[in-house]
Amino acid sequence: MRIIHTIAELRAYLTPFKRKAFVPTMGNLHEGHLALVRQAKPLSDVLVVSIFVNRLQFLPNEDFDTYPRTFDTDCLALKAAGCDVVFAPSEQELYPTPQTFKIHPPAALADILEGHFRPGFFVGVSTVVMKLFACVLPRVAVFGQKDYQQLMVIREMVQQFALPIDIMGGATLRYADGLALSSRNQYLTPDQRSEAVQLSLTLNVMAQALRMGATDVSALEHQAMTTLSERGWKPDYMVVRYRSDLQIPAPDAVAALAKKQSLVVLGAAKLGHTRLIDNVEV
Ligand code: PAF
Repeated sequence: MRIIHTIAELRAYLTPFKRKAFVPTMGNLHEGHLALVRQAKPLSDVLVVSIFVNRLQFLPNEDFDTYPRTFDTDCLALKAAGCDVVFAPSEQELYPTPQTFKIHPPAALADILEGHFRPGFFVGVSTVVMKLFACVLPRVAVFGQKDYQQLMVIREMVQQFALPIDIMGGATLRYADGLALSSRNQYLTPDQRSEAVQLSLTLNVMAQALRMGATDVSALEHQAMTTLSERGWKPDYMVVRYRSDLQIPAPDAVAALAKKQSLVVLGAAKLGHTRLIDNVEV
């Protein structure tokens, strides 16, 4: 496995390859990332994983400085998972001058949910992903479905800019109790770790109610917010949306949409200082 820090070396090394697969990450890798790597491997003649903690997608009060950086263990895990190239540029390499050209995804998709609570987040994500795509020139890229809205923003960006890249989603990996794997789980205290499963449990309660024919989406959402608040969480949102565009489903169509598997339930909530997100397709 080759570790490359500059765009020039990356381009030179990748030139002979025809079908590059790419998994972008911010490092601090867990089994969820490694599953994306294993998914991408057979699709490619060379598999590139980037490790870059992207300042542009963090709000000033967020955890950019403390985001866990575990480069050496990440590289060992990537080697074992079949990665061919780790691309780990410095900030100076990727943003040698202030990145004033930015990708602004459509507000209807990117200023809701995560984008509402983390203004500018998807501008930062889209901009770095576009830049990483320009460095790697992949034929296929894999993103985790846990970041449901991010996956959708990237798909839309690739489609609207006619980038010749297949975007694939990787299923969310979960612990035995149902908590989704996430780099931010390690911020949780042991007590918070036991409580953390309530996010996916509550989303599953909403999803199951919809599958059983519930149609009052506002009541479901309200109940979910109350459940988490009463347990000491600070929920940002617990919502039912169309899978296709994350908009609010038409109230009179909810039952039919649930039957047609057209809905997704998404949630984000803070437990102590740790903000977790998750989703369940209905
Ligand atoms: O999902 C992530 O880890 C990041 O948002 C990504 C896609 C690597 C861009 O920095």
